[in-house]
Amino acid sequence: MNEGLVTVSYIIATILFVLSLGGLSTPETARRGNYYGIAGMALAILATILGPKVDSLWPVIIAMSVGGTIGLYAAYKVQMTEMPELVALMHSLVGLAAVLIGYATYVDSSVELKGVEKAIHEIEIYLGILIGAVTFSGSVIAFGKLSGRISGKPLLLPGRHLLNLAGLLGVIFVAKLFLNVDSGLSGTFLLMIMTGIALAFGIHMVMAIGGADMPVVVSMLNSYSGWAASATGFMFGNDLLIVIGALVGSSGAILSYIMCRAMNRHFLSVIAGGFGTAGGTVVSSGGGPQGEVLPIAAEETAELLRNASKVIIVPGYGMAVAQAQHTVFEITKLLRERKIDVHFAIHPVAGRMPGHMNVLLAEAKVPYDIVAEMDEINHEFPQTDVVMVIGANDIVNPAAQEDPGSPIAGMPVLEVWKAKTSIVMKRSMASGYAGVDNPLFYKENNRMLFGDAKKMLDEVLSVLRSG
Ligand code: TAP
Repeated sequence: MNEGLVTVSYIIATILFVLSLGGLSTPETARRGNYYGIAGMALAILATILGPKVDSLWPVIIAMSVGGTIGLYAAYKVQMTEMPELVALMHSLVGLAAVLIGYATYVDSSVELKGVEKAIHEIEIYLGILIGAVTFSGSVIAFGKLSGRISGKPLLLPGRHLLNLAGLLGVIFVAKLFLNVDSGLSGTFLLMIMTGIALAFGIHMVMAIGGADMPVVVSMLNSYSGWAASATGFMFGNDLLIVIGALVGSSGAILSYIMCRAMNRHFLSVIAGGFGTAGGTVVSSGGGPQGEVLPIAAEETAELLRNASKVIIVPGYGMAVAQAQHTVFEITKLLRERKIDVHFAIHPVAGRMPGHMNVLLAEAKVPYDIVAEMDEINHEFPQTDVVMVIGANDIVNPAAQEDPGSPIAGMPVLEVWKAKTSIVMKRSMASGYAGVDNPLFYKENNRMLFGDAKKMLDEVLSVLRSG
């Protein structure tokens, strides 16, 4: 394939990627967006390997077969609940690739540049390795935190801001030495020092972030992985990689902004770390249990639903764990047949990845027009008879509004306690991802339906069917 044809293919691939991003912005068009993305990537790969820059096809085919097989296997094996970890792991691979390509480009003796061109080339390499290393180590820690291998508790080292500042100054100082040909120091050695600082910074940055703020980190690392890919494109002189990296980088940055707004946080204060508390353990803001909880059985739940005229369902991470989305939809269909108004309320950070609940509900074929975002539906709770909270916790925690000392204070939440009755389905009194106690459970109009969400919903469904 000649250079001209490769350029045309790259332009078409870029258009397909833009269409893909557009498609992925709403659940209705997400499937189409995915197809555009697959077509764009297939074209980009074909044009690259058949293009004039690849002399020998075999190493590429072998590498692609190995990588493709691992990717296919991982995608088939992964559970829906493990998706966020998988995504974090993939971001880490993009970062690692940028680091390795940076070193390979630096030691490549076939590139002979002088003066400004050489300086620009070296800056590209330096930045590529820097961004790649931060992305790599940050994503590995994010993987650990999301999969529960590392505690969600923020690691707050004394003088952590000074440590970050020292790292930044160190990276700038090493860059000066690296670009100064008269420094007499080996470039590879200086790159290794910078890589060490960048890896430590990535680890420190993500370790310092508390449970509830992980959504911002996930989207931020998504953005970094785009910039790392873009930097790789600069090193290779590959326009497509530059453009695609920039698309991913900027859309990840927009997502980080959306996530910050959803959490009511400032981006810089999230990065500086320290919000959130121990993941999985109860850290009561008020100190100890806050009263009695009122349990409810599946029969009574079905009775309440049957007699309601307006029902809102709030899904959370527990629905994903229990894989209860299909049963939820069966119940929804039965209620709607009885002319009961049923809607789903989606919090922007429900679950463990952006759009997590939308994906699950789409999989169960829940119609999009009864799925509402938090801002659209929050004012409807006071007119609602029954709210079913399915495996959600932090996103319905009134402490965010009522307790200024709470680690999630200020985070917008679904105001389910304003409904006539709320029913929370979960297995125990354990806290959610942010590790904070939930006063909702103790409210007079709240009932707890204890048990696995799928099992309990199956019971509710069979009672509804029988009556
Ligand atoms: P969580 O606050 O994590 O609460 C989920 C609840 O589900 C838990 O309290 C758990 O209680 C229950 N549960 C688990 N398995 C269950 C099962 N099989 N059946 C029934 N219940 C089950 O989830 P949420 O309300 O969706 O909030 C999301 C949290 O994750 C936020 O803090 C958010 O910041 C964080 N986060 C989000 C993201 C993104 S991008 N969405 C990424 C990282 C972190 P039991 O153990 O008692 O059953």
